[in-house]
Amino acid sequence: MKHLLGIEPLTAGEITALVDHALELKTQRSRGSITTELKGETWAMIFTKSSTRTRVSFEVGLTELGARPLFLNANDIQLGRGEPIKDTARVLGRMVHGAIIRTYAQQDVVDFAEYGKIPTINALTDEEHPCQILADLLTIRERLGGWEGKKVVFFGDGDCNMGRSWAWAAKRLGFELVIAAPKAFQPDDAFMARLGEAPVTLTEDVEAAATGADVLYTDTWVSMGREAEAEERLKILKPFQIHGGLVKLANPGAIVQHCLPAYRDKEICGTLFEERADEIFQQAENRLHAQKAILIALARER
Ligand code: CP
Ligand code: NVA
Repeated sequence: MKHLLGIEPLTAGEITALVDHALELKTQRSRGSITTELKGETWAMIFTKSSTRTRVSFEVGLTELGARPLFLNANDIQLGRGEPIKDTARVLGRMVHGAIIRTYAQQDVVDFAEYGKIPTINALTDEEHPCQILADLLTIRERLGGWEGKKVVFFGDGDCNMGRSWAWAAKRLGFELVIAAPKAFQPDDAFMARLGEAPVTLTEDVEAAATGADVLYTDTWVSMGREAEAEERLKILKPFQIHGGLVKLANPGAIVQHCLPAYRDKEICGTLFEERADEIFQQAENRLHAQKAILIALARER
């Protein structure tokens, strides 16, 4: 694995190895033992969208590993004034050891990896959010013992980066994924054709979806870049909120997950969010451990 551009390009073995290593790093850290395997390195972090969790977990993770995070707001570098991504990549590729990119187009991350010739991590594009999925799989392993035979249900905007990354995870790992979303917010035919045979079903029936679920997952209804559609989205997606009534239909021990940031009483009932805060913020913490595993894996392959 030379880059982490999405869940799509990964094999089941690669995903499992990353989650295993993340768990090991988390356990070691809790005992005060922290590896500094990336000592002396500098990793650029190019962000064209807002971030709390991804930015902080990468900055802390890199620092703990002995590397220097170089945060670059896209508006502060020439990229924001129109310098092509491939030129930015060719400059940074000669100076830094790796790059972490949050942006809109998946192609920009692919181009950066090709032209920069340094390990490149997708820190969220409109297409995928692989770092989040790896942290979520770690949480599922910790809380439920593993994803084998589990039913994960994604409620809400199923056609966003999170919905698509979940679909690739289900295909690669073989667990059941149900995407409960209005027709207009289900992954489109072109995506489903590319996904091919996979244990993924699409439905508009939230109750049938919640029945027997082990993981009830949601994400904002208004992803970054979709703000102009907010009013319409909030209206159409309203029946797809996760609330206590749906949790009652799930399996005993089912967990509620949210990649955050959360908008209370929109995609998730505010009361349920607070009741399940422990498992949701465990998921947020796991970003740190999962990403350290990613950084180490890419540094070792370089
Ligand atoms: N879940 C997530 O990626 O959060 P941020 O947008 O705060 O990084
Ligand atoms: N789908 C959301 C994820 C935020 C972490 C977005 O793209 O804004």
